[in-house]
Amino acid sequence: MNKIIAIANQKGGVGKTTTAVNLSASLAATKRKVLLIDMDPQGNASTAAGILTEDPNTLYNHYFDTIPIEDCTYSSKDGYDIIPGGEELIALEVSIRNDNKQGFLLKSLEGISNKYDYTIIDTPPTLNQLTIEGLFCASGTLIPLQCEYYSLEGVTGLMTTIQTLSDKNMSSNRVIGIVRTMVDMRNNLAKEVSDELEKHFKNLVFNTLIPRNVKLAEAPSHGISGIKYMPNSYGAKAYLALAGEVIRKVEYA
Ligand SMILES: Nc1ncnc2c1ncn2[C@@H]1O[C@H](COP(=O)(O)OP(=O)(O)O)[C@@H](O)[C@H]1O
Ligand SMILES: [Mg+2]
Repeated sequence: MNKIIAIANQKGGVGKTTTAVNLSASLAATKRKVLLIDMDPQGNASTAAGILTEDPNTLYNHYFDTIPIEDCTYSSKDGYDIIPGGEELIALEVSIRNDNKQGFLLKSLEGISNKYDYTIIDTPPTLNQLTIEGLFCASGTLIPLQCEYYSLEGVTGLMTTIQTLSDKNMSSNRVIGIVRTMVDMRNNLAKEVSDELEKHFKNLVFNTLIPRNVKLAEAPSHGISGIKYMPNSYGAKAYLALAGEVIRKVEYA
């Protein structure tokens, strides 16, 4: 069965896209069939996936031009499929909101659910209708978090939204876990915040720490994941370990 996981945090620059891309690549490396959906108008995940097609179909074309979702799906060099994002998703956001079309994506994904083991959804850095649509579809959410002061700001709002959707029986989404990203343990503040997170969210914090690693930041310009770009780097190894934890939590829970 296709397990749909949203990667969300209203804060920008916390490692959502890096996590979405490298988790997709890591899961694909374990021979699982993976679909990554870029729901961010910035389209960073699409760049990182190395989409070569000029002006590819996005969810905009699926929604407005009724192009089948299969025709919005492209292959990445990392072995996962991707539905690209782009600026036109801003219009999609407006239409979902104005025309009450919440949930359209879930129906579309049901049609291709036997093709994939995992669908990873990269969301924009705001709690808009695109993010809500992603949360609505997902059976689990992963929250990347940088260990800084104020890093929890917004996370409570996100958790409340997920809980509300679930309370109203609108989705079965639950928080799978919090991933600490761009970690530098030489930084005392990062260590303090990281310890606090472990205390506060005990079972929700993933054991795997994603280190700050320049290879992860370089990989997107080559159109591949950090896993493929530099498999022996600390960053790549960390994301492979995270994928192992996700598999244990999702498949053996
Ligand atoms: N573990 C990491 N080590 C080094 N740089 C990282 C790491 N994670 C993300 N980055 C870089 O930080 C920036 C923001 O990350 P990104 O994944 O785009 O965040 P978001 O999607 O939440 O906005 C990007 O330039 C990215 O390459
Ligand atoms: Mg992003």
